[in-house]
Amino acid sequence: MAAGPFVIAVLVSGNGSNFQAIVDALEAGRITNASIACLISNKADAYALERAKKHAIPAIVLDHKLFPDRRAYDTALVELLRQHGVQLVVLAGFMRLLSPVMIEAFPNAIMNIHPALLPSFPGVDAQKQAFDYGVRYTGCTVHFVDQGTDTGPIILQAVVPVLQDDTLESLTQRIHGEEHRTYVEAVRLFCEGRVLVDGRKVSICD
Ligand code: GRF
Repeated sequence: MAAGPFVIAVLVSGNGSNFQAIVDALEAGRITNASIACLISNKADAYALERAKKHAIPAIVLDHKLFPDRRAYDTALVELLRQHGVQLVVLAGFMRLLSPVMIEAFPNAIMNIHPALLPSFPGVDAQKQAFDYGVRYTGCTVHFVDQGTDTGPIILQAVVPVLQDDTLESLTQRIHGEEHRTYVEAVRLFCEGRVLVDGRKVSICD
């Protein structure tokens, strides 16, 4: 039995095309049992803020430069998320590491999307890491966030082949397309109460 409706916050630092994909899926009824309470950006010039305004979603800037350290920033973030009654935090290009303050406030309720097949190529510039390594297949991973960098339990992955004539740009673009599809699917399953976590293992139930 699905609980809900789930209250979601999306955290961004830039473009927000994954955020847009989730908004579109909600509006089209492809994700049900959920609503986006707010979009939060640590950068005032993030294009995602414009996207949120177009869809009448509260767009909030929480500038990390105004806080002395990561812990202080995350304490303010947790407070903001609590004020909005948030149950699921979706990181969509949020370019900040989370401290234990955030992780402990939302255990197995913070998702991230990473543009490679974890555990390969964690960290920044994952598409370039995979391209430069010469892999034949890469992709994207939606996972829960834990204390490590891109180490949390894996929810969904999608494979993207590296084509003979790919450039880093063409490969990045195809991965991005798969990200939109995969992130929407992960959020949908979570909001339907179908994502179960047991230690590192995530199972998707029918
Ligand atoms: C994506 O490539 C995602 O994998 C990474 O940040 C990027 C965000 O893209 N975590 P967008 O802002 O959603 O377009």
